[in-house]
Amino acid sequence: MRVDTQVGIVGAGPAGLLLSHLLHLSGIESVVLELRSRDYCERRVRAGVLEQGTVDLLTECGVGDRMRREGLVHRGIELRFGGRGHRIDFPTLTGGRAITVYGQQEVVKDLIAARLAAGGRIMFEADDVSVHDIQTDRPHVRFLHGGEPMELQCRLLAGCDGFHGVCREAIPAEALSIYERVYPFAWFGVLAQTPPPSAELIYAAHERGFALYSMRSPEISRLYLQVAPDEEAVNWPDTRIWRELHRRLGEEAGERLKEGTILEKGVTGMRSFIAEPMQYGRLYLAGDAAHIVPPTGAKGLNLAVADVGVLARAMAKYFKSGGEDLLRAYSATCLRRVWRAEHFSWWMTSMLHRFPAHDGFQHRLQRSELEYVIGSRAAATSLAENYVGLPFDW
Ligand code: APR
Ligand code: PHB
Repeated sequence: MRVDTQVGIVGAGPAGLLLSHLLHLSGIESVVLELRSRDYCERRVRAGVLEQGTVDLLTECGVGDRMRREGLVHRGIELRFGGRGHRIDFPTLTGGRAITVYGQQEVVKDLIAARLAAGGRIMFEADDVSVHDIQTDRPHVRFLHGGEPMELQCRLLAGCDGFHGVCREAIPAEALSIYERVYPFAWFGVLAQTPPPSAELIYAAHERGFALYSMRSPEISRLYLQVAPDEEAVNWPDTRIWRELHRRLGEEAGERLKEGTILEKGVTGMRSFIAEPMQYGRLYLAGDAAHIVPPTGAKGLNLAVADVGVLARAMAKYFKSGGEDLLRAYSATCLRRVWRAEHFSWWMTSMLHRFPAHDGFQHRLQRSELEYVIGSRAAATSLAENYVGLPFDW
């Protein structure tokens, strides 16, 4: 069966869903093809920190009601090292900006609900997706739906299918430059039924390794421990997790962390990755399909949102007037912001983690950098303005 639309979108993560929603608001039709089921997409636990610009965009486009009700506005983070906590206050350093803690899967639920309510088409459980003729004006996507071969014809294609998707792979290798770093550690993430030990996030640099204390609600904590890159969750019974969290958090905050039921565990590798340019012919890559950051700077979801904000505007101009200037500028416009976030995420990762190959010299450099960040208003401002997010048109 053949389906026609203006924009074909591969992937129903935050990038693909928000793009489809923004295009709809500009009167442009799209179809989203997603490998997984709706239930799987809505339950997948991922990132949870929204920059001010992300919150503003979701609000302006009408999908921010629940986020504004249930999201937790945070005006600072704590950096913990040497047995003490040091607060970085965002509003005083950034002219009033803050972040909102709201799970990525909640953003996904809100976007799916908005698309379906507006009659949008999301085809879940689309198998064997492949993209064709991406260099021509009639790109198309082939896939199986309910076992039946389908073809989606479109004018423009958006590859929003994440790091392991098929869209980036469809671009000839010689047309892309890849920049990459794989870090010699991973994050072991835990979702626990326990009140967070602090009202704000705690980033703890400890000689046993980094730890992060985040949350999803006043009753649910999201906790991370730096572990070896090949670590497996089965090696971490609950008692070991709590013991290690208490150690890395230090005494006073550690005592406030209550050992509740662990709801979910998983290990995530850490990498920096950028594919340039983010476009080939009529295929435009957005979000994790084009770039990955290590999670220390909490930038992945925000970059995906910023990409599709730029892409939706460029596509709207193209369909309205035939003007291609914004589409031609898409990759360069996004990459400026992407590289800033890549640098910030690499810097936060390098400052806070214990690297297996580091010696005493490097440990002391790390300590000096942390002391500079908490001791100098200029250094604290640099961290704060990157963390809350630079303006979308930066
Ligand atoms: N065909 C169809 N869909 C696919 C395919 C495929 N071959 N491969 C992957 N997908 C889907 C995935 O199942 C997923 O739902 O594409 C979607 C990609 O979504 P995300 O991985 O969430 O990526 P993105 O929308 O760019 O959002 C970036 O996700 O990984 C986090 O930290 C990251 O917060 C950031 C955000
Ligand atoms: C999270 O809450 O999942 C989270 C918070 C901050 C990060 C990374 C992840 O830097």
